[in-house]
Amino acid sequence: MALAPTVQLRSGARLPLLGLGTWPLNDDEAAETVSLAIETGYRLIDTAENYRNEKGVGEGIRRSGVPREDLFVTTKFNSEHHSLDGVRRAFQASTELLGLDYVDLLLVHWPNPGQGRHVEAVQGIAKLMEEGLVRAVGTSNYKPAHLQQVIDAGIVPDVNQIQLDPQRPRIEERAFHNEHGIVTESWSPLGPGSGLLEDPGVVAIAEAHGRTPAQVVLRWHVQQGMVAIPKSSNPQRLAQNLGIFDFELSGAELASIYLLDTGEAEIVDSDAFGH
Ligand code: A2P
Repeated sequence: MALAPTVQLRSGARLPLLGLGTWPLNDDEAAETVSLAIETGYRLIDTAENYRNEKGVGEGIRRSGVPREDLFVTTKFNSEHHSLDGVRRAFQASTELLGLDYVDLLLVHWPNPGQGRHVEAVQGIAKLMEEGLVRAVGTSNYKPAHLQQVIDAGIVPDVNQIQLDPQRPRIEERAFHNEHGIVTESWSPLGPGSGLLEDPGVVAIAEAHGRTPAQVVLRWHVQQGMVAIPKSSNPQRLAQNLGIFDFELSGAELASIYLLDTGEAEIVDSDAFGH
């Protein structure tokens, strides 16, 4: 069984390049899908307080029988916990539901900059990392301006998880991340159902490689150093999505996929939206 290669984070932890997203699975579905995914070779599992499935994710992890230390478990917390004590309480609630005593990567789910506590929320995670309770510090949906405020306060997150796919390649955000050694993690890497997988250009590349369009899109992410976390509860697709480390896209193919960026695709605005 082939596992995904990993990328080393600033913290030293190693993050698999391909993992399982778990939204919108409920507890029962998450338990089933997570155990199947781990048996298929997934080692990175991504959940969140807001998904309300951490209990099921934990159950799936235990069912798989794979040792805890071989897995990379990520969760996120909501805006009501954006304080040093709040982050600690969020961590305790998540780990209790997951049935784990540490998480590999804890992320602030949305910056909610209107609250003015998006820096403090990251400081809360950094404190937990000092105590060995989390292995890496993460943000999600932070724009470069939000990250700059975090960096000015003396912390560089290990990972920023953002909405990213070929129609939304987020070039400026990735350049900012790269400048600071922050790994980019793509949520909804296959796009929000906007025809990406039916695009004739993507289909032609897939046919040329004897792969599926989803494999081409996921390969586009990981070949450029982004971590992708597609959700699927379909056993064939779970295997298919992980099976992207034995072929390579050419430079011309990677470049042609950028033509899908018309600049018009909607991106959830984290200055306006959050929870
Ligand atoms: P399914 O679970 O039925 O496979 P997200 O944007 O949250 O990552 O969700 C990805 C969506 O794309 C899900 O609806 C999932 O549906 C679907 N999907 C996942 N993998 C594939 C694939 N290989 N081919 C086509 N659709 C996929």
